[in-house]
Amino acid sequence: MQDIIRRLDEKRAAAKMGGGQRRIDIQHGKGKLTARERVELLLDEGSFEEWDMFVEHRCTDFGMDQQEKIPGDGVVTGYGTINGRLTFVFSQDFTVFGGSLSETHAQKICKIMDQAMKVGAPVIGLNDSGGARIQEGVASLGGYADVFQKNVLASGVVPQISVIMGPCAGGAVYSPAMTDFIFMVKDSSYMFVTGPDVVKTVTHETVTAEELGGAITHSSTSGVADLALENDVEALLTTRRFMNFIPANNREKPPVWPTQDPADRTEPSLDTLVPDDPSKPYDIKELIQKIADEGDFFEIQPSYAQNIVVGFIRLEGSTVGVVANQPLVLAGCLDINSSKKAGRFVRFCDAFNIPILTLVDVPGFMPGTSQEYGGIIKQGAKLLYAYAEATVPKVTLITRKAYGGAYDVMASKHLRGDVNLAWPSAEIAVMGSKGAVEIIFRKDIGDEEKIARRTAEYQEKFANPFVAGARGYIDDVIMPHASRKRICRSFAMLKDKRLENPWRKHGNIPL
Ligand code: HXC
Repeated sequence: MQDIIRRLDEKRAAAKMGGGQRRIDIQHGKGKLTARERVELLLDEGSFEEWDMFVEHRCTDFGMDQQEKIPGDGVVTGYGTINGRLTFVFSQDFTVFGGSLSETHAQKICKIMDQAMKVGAPVIGLNDSGGARIQEGVASLGGYADVFQKNVLASGVVPQISVIMGPCAGGAVYSPAMTDFIFMVKDSSYMFVTGPDVVKTVTHETVTAEELGGAITHSSTSGVADLALENDVEALLTTRRFMNFIPANNREKPPVWPTQDPADRTEPSLDTLVPDDPSKPYDIKELIQKIADEGDFFEIQPSYAQNIVVGFIRLEGSTVGVVANQPLVLAGCLDINSSKKAGRFVRFCDAFNIPILTLVDVPGFMPGTSQEYGGIIKQGAKLLYAYAEATVPKVTLITRKAYGGAYDVMASKHLRGDVNLAWPSAEIAVMGSKGAVEIIFRKDIGDEEKIARRTAEYQEKFANPFVAGARGYIDDVIMPHASRKRICRSFAMLKDKRLENPWRKHGNIPL
């Protein structure tokens, strides 16, 4: 028995060394943690239960059967807790064949995904891999496809989070792409379908890996990533904080955390947030922070499509997803990127029972050939579709402009908004007064005095919340300082809301 125990200890020790001290030192030399160090930081101390530590690859080609087999085969898998809540995790080990994905490596990932779905717990993937295990060829491709299939089956059932902490290239990018959120580490991670060398050959562009697919590129230009973090430690601690906001599965309500912040807290400064001049911007994030419990706002994609702001807050301890037009950027117009960003966020919230607060100050959809050629019609429809489809509690507050189609889109009453509120500064109209007058009184253009009079008339009649109020399109006009109280009460009233869409296999969102 002693012998068996000693052999077990030795086997465990060998597995824990991954690809050996030399490769661990190289990993550290790049400023990266090892797969196991990452798991330790991500999960509550001592909570990790590892599975499949002794799995080995079965490849016999290219001398693989002659080499020493490294137990675990390049991925550490198992489960543990984050702030006491069950979470499954896989962490690719770059020190073992460059974290490359073999048939057995893929089977380990699929195994924990299956288990996570059975018990209703999130899956976090820590990605650091040279891609398909080259020696295994098609068996590795099959492994990838198996993971992709699981990603799709798990989508909307349990949250899936990808943290990219090293290379992630070729078809390998499509597994993270199908998860709910992607966080990337600056300077040490990259994602691309084809690397800089292939790009150079095919398109003659010279580009570095960082420029092509680094964390900054994907979190600000492509929108593929949701956050760019400074280093491994910040990425893992941010992931822990993020997990506190989301439910464990699609049957659970969001977690509730204790708060000292009174639901009826008033914020007098909000009474002057909207400038008197309607063309002057203001920062919508100030409103979000002043509404949120303890001012805590976890923003998603803060550097991408900044004309819309999305993220999570808590109200009376419970998670709420926020979507807000940002007047500071492009006057808060909806365009292709902001529609996709917010549409995807709304769908995540709806899939996981997270109520949605929408803050509206939108002058309309962005005009122009680049928008039309880029398909703003279909792209904008994504956000419209997402809001209209969502059955979670929806509370909307119009702070200023709610013009045209964008008024309809932004969780209006007509899209089953449950509680639609407006500040006295709200302007709910087909378009801005000047533009409207120049269309309906085109013959008067040139007569400055007439146009000014007509504009003032239009402004007086429509640039307010009362026309919509008279039709019941908004439920109440509220004082800005009372926003938190009124919104908290609305969500409290909606706590047990039930609403179901008609049965169908699935809708056909304009992709
Ligand atoms: C097997 C691999 C490997 C791979 C790296 N290694 N990638 N082994 N299969 N895909 C091994 C190396 O042989 C080396 O082993 C160790 O991992 C570390 O690799 P280095 O090259 O020394 O590291 P570094 O200089 O940091 O470069 C990392 C890298 C590079 C850029 C990822 O290794 C690389 O280009 N690898 C190949 C990437 C690739 O072409 N993958 C297949 C893509 S196709 P030793 O023993 O020396 O430590 C693909 C299709 C997926 O992924 C399709 C899904 C549908």
